[in-house]
Amino acid sequence: PLYTESARPQLHFSPTSGFMNDPNGLVYSNGTWHMYYQYNPNATVAGNQHWGHATSKDLFTWQQHLPAIAPENEGEGIFSGSAVLDVNNTSGFFDDNVPADSRFVAIYTLNTPAEQNQNIAYSTDGQHYTKYSGNPVISLNTTQFRDPKVFFDDATQQWVMTVAHPQSYEVGFYASKDLRTWNELSRFGPHGVLGFQYECPDLVQVPVKGGERDGQLAWVLVVSINPGAPLGGSFVQYFVGDWNGTAFRPDNGAAQIADFGKDWYAAQTFYNAPQGRTVGLAWASNWQYTNVAPTSPWRSVQSLPRDMTLRWTNMNPLQKGYVLALEPSPEILSLPSTPLLNTTKAENTTVVLRGDGAFDVRATVTANVSSTNFPSLEFVISSSHGSTAEKVKIGAQIGQPTMIYVDRRTAGRTWADENVFFTDRLSGQLTPSTQNSSSALTTFDLRLIIDRSISELFVDGGLVSSTILHFWDDKAQPAQLDVGTHGGVKLDFISVSHVRSTWP
Ligand code: FRU
Repeated sequence: PLYTESARPQLHFSPTSGFMNDPNGLVYSNGTWHMYYQYNPNATVAGNQHWGHATSKDLFTWQQHLPAIAPENEGEGIFSGSAVLDVNNTSGFFDDNVPADSRFVAIYTLNTPAEQNQNIAYSTDGQHYTKYSGNPVISLNTTQFRDPKVFFDDATQQWVMTVAHPQSYEVGFYASKDLRTWNELSRFGPHGVLGFQYECPDLVQVPVKGGERDGQLAWVLVVSINPGAPLGGSFVQYFVGDWNGTAFRPDNGAAQIADFGKDWYAAQTFYNAPQGRTVGLAWASNWQYTNVAPTSPWRSVQSLPRDMTLRWTNMNPLQKGYVLALEPSPEILSLPSTPLLNTTKAENTTVVLRGDGAFDVRATVTANVSSTNFPSLEFVISSSHGSTAEKVKIGAQIGQPTMIYVDRRTAGRTWADENVFFTDRLSGQLTPSTQNSSSALTTFDLRLIIDRSISELFVDGGLVSSTILHFWDDKAQPAQLDVGTHGGVKLDFISVSHVRSTWP
């Protein structure tokens, strides 16, 4: 079987060998999800960037293909970008007999020592791309200009590109009728957290649940920052606002954090996702330590695909209360799985994590926010059944607001101690909306997906999420989960299931 290495995630996508970073060119076509990604096939560090390629029918079971786009000259790289379906053949690249949903155009940055410029390539199967002979399609004679993400703007009937001007902290907006000729529309920024560079912008429409705009679509601009995240290194921030066909205007200038872990970067959404869904994923690592992460013969995994919605909360009236909720895409529930625990009214529980796939934990928690008994709850993942086992802890301290934490301090110290940036304790907070002001009781749900060297936490329907890597010493693997509640916290429901490996 593939993927037997002890740190190798069984549900997350990773390449067999080599180095992977950002997801690129995410596009859904005729029942197939295509994922391209930044890829160095020859070494386990970044460099020699290609677009690797994988496809899936269900977002979780991936088939690997040969790299789709490769650099031509020494010292050059095919950097991040996006892909669209040119159904109306606006580019003129396609013969009439090519089905509309097989008209792939990729838009990427060519990185050379002299310049970063924007390029396009086309394909009729998503696997073999031909670079356009007229490349580059945008050149500004600068080494800092990258990560084009393109969508079709229905209101203005043209293609729109968002692209990073990294060190002037601006997102550029360009428009085109044919994907070949581009005109600048406007720039956004500096706004939010600046850090050292803006990277990988993505302007996307997200379904709204609740509040004034219930049932509508709202515009969200996602911007990645590296380095300079509040938690160190790389992170993703977003702005809720409005796109008028020419410019993006945020509801206000304040950014919000997408995921409070340290391993969720360069997020991108799929072009043409079905059923009005907004689905995206991110690279599950951090530039601060990715090039030395203790895995071999590959480095890095992608996060699980997440469905995105904007949910209304009482939080922060300045933002009109909208918060981006990220939840594992529902296809995860149709994967083959075995229940290990399914119970109500649990308080303190131990579950042996039997099986060599991943584990999906779901719980509903009720507590009294005004209790003086320090209500809290903790999930402890241990690498073996003994008392000396390494542990990753994930918990909540309930109050106003409720604080959520992840603690990887007692896992994989051998490597972590050498890496000052592998921050081992991180925290976020729940939005007060769930804490109904007329009642002292709070209820929230919690979802934890444990997959060998990575865990993803989702609280309150994904209003809060946290993605963390955790490397275990001695090739250990998650072996036991202990759930503990204190100060009157009740678990109304908890289930744990083993999800079979999606790798053959
Ligand atoms: C983000 C990034 C992008 C760039 C790519 C290079 O992680 O730095 O800005 O296009 O990675 O691999």
